[in-house]
Amino acid sequence: MRILSGIQPSGKLHLGNYLGMMKQCVELQQKGETYIFIANYHALTTIADAALLRQNTMDVALDFLALGLDPEKTVFFRQSDVPEVQELTWLLSIVEPVSRLELAHSYKDKLAHGKEATHALFSYPVLMAADILLYQSDLVPVGKDQRQHLEITRDIATKFNLKFGETFKIPEAYIPEAVAIVPGTDGQKMSKSYGNTIQISGSPAEIKKAIMGIVTDCAPLEAPKDPESNNIYKIYKLLATPEQAEEMAKNFRAGGYGYGTAKKELLRLFNETFAPFRERRAELAAHPETVKEILAAGAERARKQARITLDKARAAVGID
Ligand code: ADP
Ligand code: TRP
Repeated sequence: MRILSGIQPSGKLHLGNYLGMMKQCVELQQKGETYIFIANYHALTTIADAALLRQNTMDVALDFLALGLDPEKTVFFRQSDVPEVQELTWLLSIVEPVSRLELAHSYKDKLAHGKEATHALFSYPVLMAADILLYQSDLVPVGKDQRQHLEITRDIATKFNLKFGETFKIPEAYIPEAVAIVPGTDGQKMSKSYGNTIQISGSPAEIKKAIMGIVTDCAPLEAPKDPESNNIYKIYKLLATPEQAEEMAKNFRAGGYGYGTAKKELLRLFNETFAPFRERRAELAAHPETVKEILAAGAERARKQARITLDKARAAVGID
């Protein structure tokens, strides 16, 4: 089984990225042949600052490696180091109607937030389909917000296969329901675009500020509180053992347990969970050359597979 996923280097990675996608990628390394890449072509739809893009790309690499991504097991690379993906994007774009792309939520959402409708933003799902199909992927671990992009990928692969003969495997999304959407500190979906994140590689002061700033109602300390309707518990539950979660829920229901105390407990658990990660990340950050070598070796392995699929697709359409 081949497992593939990508993440954009478009900002600091947060708990939503970790629980929604990165954790699954690291765990799935044991289950099959894994390909993980840093989607820097995609990030160009939001970042127009070369130095920032380079920095973010290194940050994502450090985060993934420190979280336990093993470059021996996993092919880990930068999207742009496999330019074959651009040619495949073109071949796929010939089967995808504009009307289908116009329905993409993430595209519509970006326009609704005032972003300009560039061609890159519009064709984003076709490049994503090429990322996935180029490696004949079976399983794609992503957060819930990427489900529609996976449907578009499956649609494109099916249409291409019908028109030109069997060329691509039809991939499946892998979205564990338990962590479908991680809430942010304000209760909306945690997202770097909403400024409501808890960054996994943030400084102790930044993490404390984010956690202590979680929005709650103003129920008095003595009042019994419904754990399921507060953000602290919702986030805590995602990191805690079932026993720890039950303990906090019981405390809330009993009354006399304040939000401040719960936030401190969440901060403690967050720091405990990510302490080994921070240590490994600091060690890796001291050796950027090693990280670059890992990405270069990954790109070389990825390109071999990419070439095979691209040649097959070229032959299918008649430009070999
Ligand atoms: P952001 O919304 O912060 O810009 P991205 O869109 O770059 O994050 O998402 C990267 C990956 O992390 C995707 O697979 C996405 O589905 C997942 N992800 C992002 N935010 C969350 C969240 N709040 N809950 C679950 N998964 C998330
Ligand atoms: N669109 C994804 C996101 O924003 C990133 C991505 C690009 C991706 N290509 C991919 C994810 C291929 C999985 C497979 O998170």
